[in-house]
Amino acid sequence: MASTIHTLFPAHELEDNQSKAVTLEGKNILVCRSNGEYYAVENNCTHQKAELTEGRIRNCFLSCPLHGVRFDLRTGAPKGELTRVPLKTYSVSIDDNANLQLDLESQ
Ligand code: FES
Repeated sequence: MASTIHTLFPAHELEDNQSKAVTLEGKNILVCRSNGEYYAVENNCTHQKAELTEGRIRNCFLSCPLHGVRFDLRTGAPKGELTRVPLKTYSVSIDDNANLQLDLESQ
């Protein structure tokens, strides 16, 4: 079976509260860093499908730039009334060469 783990880019390229969009196997994914940890979520808001690339990140929460729903990067769970559907999340790790790795099969 093909591996679902993808090597992304050097971890140091992302500063805290920054994000970077990547496309893996046709999926639009936003890789984020907050409080020194790395996270990855689907890059489409579960309210009205806005891209989250320009969303502000603070304390492990990513705000949708369109209507401001805040998603917990750790779980994908939304805060607020506009949507109750969580973002899909992916696990991110750092390999021996200090590159980020993302597992598409992970939850
Ligand atoms: S599209 Fe994201 S909050 Fe409405």
